Amino acid sequence: MQEPNFFIHSSSFLEEKTNIGKGTAIWHFCHISEGVTIGENCIIGQNVFIGKNVKIGNGVKIQNNVCLFDGVEIKDDVFIGPSVVFTNILTPRAFINRKAEFLNTTVEKGASIGANCTVICGNTIGAYALIGAGSVITKSVNEFELWYGNPAKKKGMVNKLGEKI
Ligand SMILES: CC(C)(COP(=O)(O)OP(=O)(O)OC[C@H]1O[C@@H](n2cnc3c(N)ncnc32)[C@H](O)[C@@H]1OP(=O)(O)O)[C@@H](O)C(=O)NCCC(=O)NCCS
Repeated sequence: MQEPNFFIHSSSFLEEKTNIGKGTAIWHFCHISEGVTIGENCIIGQNVFIGKNVKIGNGVKIQNNVCLFDGVEIKDDVFIGPSVVFTNILTPRAFINRKAEFLNTTVEKGASIGANCTVICGNTIGAYALIGAGSVITKSVNEFELWYGNPAKKKGMVNKLGEKI
């Protein structure tokens, strides 16, 4: 059998029919579900859960304790800070099955999401946008915009390097 050209720590669980790119590292205690695609040269930190059929681009960094559920799409070069929470149901009830009502969330190329953010489903974070730590994103963010706070608001613009302009 051919050796995989990516790294996965022995404490992590990789389901069948996944597609993991060359040079990607998946660290401790991760669970990568069936049908997941992860691009090349990504870093998946400790205790990350990636749900069924989720697609992640190339060069993505996902820090510790992040769950990516069905309906989240992560494009190339995205940074997801530690303990970022993505939601997929707008009006959750334990006693109602709303799986058919999942709303999608897309994070476009080069965007960064700071530590401990919550992203309300149905929104898009534009290319190279920068989201400050601890923000609650309730609206879509355009490319190169800087947002933070709860609820997060547009506070300025950043360049490709993440510097305020
Ligand atoms: C948002 C960020 C990029 C800085 O933006 P900035 O506009 O340069 O912020 P400043 O430091 O000039 O602060 C401007 C004001 O916003 C506040 N502020 C800064 N970051 C904030 C945040 N994340 N949430 C709420 N308020 C914030 C500051 O307290 C300051 O308030 P004041 O004017 O009342 O004093 C930075 O604070 C941040 O959150 N970076 C992400 C860090 C991170 O999560 N890294 C992940 C890897 S560990």
